[in-house]
Amino acid sequence: MTPATAQTARPAAPAAIIDGTAFATSLRQRVAFEVARIKNQQGLTPGLAVVLVGDDPASAVYVRNKGTQTRAAGMASFEHRLPSNADAETLLALVRQLNDDPSVHGILVQLPLPGHIDSDLVINAIDPAKDVDGFHILNVGLLGTGQKAMVPCTPLGCIMLLKDQLGSLAGLNAVVVGRSNIVGKPMAQLLLRESCTVTIAHSRSRDLPAICRNADILIAAVGRPEMIGADWIKPGAVVIDVGINRAERDGRSRLVGDVDFAAVSQVAGAITPVPGGVGPMTIACLLANTLTACCRIHGLPDPAIAV
Ligand code: GUN
Repeated sequence: MTPATAQTARPAAPAAIIDGTAFATSLRQRVAFEVARIKNQQGLTPGLAVVLVGDDPASAVYVRNKGTQTRAAGMASFEHRLPSNADAETLLALVRQLNDDPSVHGILVQLPLPGHIDSDLVINAIDPAKDVDGFHILNVGLLGTGQKAMVPCTPLGCIMLLKDQLGSLAGLNAVVVGRSNIVGKPMAQLLLRESCTVTIAHSRSRDLPAICRNADILIAAVGRPEMIGADWIKPGAVVIDVGINRAERDGRSRLVGDVDFAAVSQVAGAITPVPGGVGPMTIACLLANTLTACCRIHGLPDPAIAV
């Protein structure tokens, strides 16, 4: 654990690498343990339904991984595919069918949806109790007002990694670069809940490097490959890189984050790599949310894995 006071001195050594793969593995094991327990004690099997519209290859890979990991945790996995020209009413009818299905405790509609479908309409048609993405306006409002909500998976994973690294986050300056509904905004709400002083910055913020240099905790979620350089970083800061971008390097395509990892790791106190940082946490948190949804729907206490 790094005390907050240690964060103003330039670190003598390169940043600690925050191992999201290891943390996610341990979280999935804890979820699987709790799933086995409620199966034995309550006769309940948590179920996750994932809906994919169209044939975007990256989305198809994510959906396949979600199914594999859901089954590996002992939960039921339901996969629904609709063609890219499916109309909104067909998708809404499927969502309503899943809302009414007692074997389904979590519903995830993979985003982005084809342009002719209004994603807000679809998200808000999901039963908020089964909204394991935490994107329904009711869950957004509950999180924003400090009430019990379903919390979006990627920000939830980031908070788990931060608390594991730092212990208490209270009083720290947190800067979130990015203002999406999926990551930036819920991330800011969660950091506020941890008593951070929170700044939301974005691509149009003035003097972004100066804003970032004030951060004890920097969350990069802008979707621009290696945009954040070493001179944007307060020495000793904890840097969480949410970006997953494809970049050409030396004639080869590889995954990079929003942070220039090689340079920033010489200045930061701790940093998540890409791949192997935040990415694996997202699906692990989706499994955790599905278990939590199942417990809440059946009036059981929240599982011990929640933060
Ligand atoms: N597409 C990219 N990330 C996400 C996510 O967290 N949830 C959903 N539903 N779609 C996504």
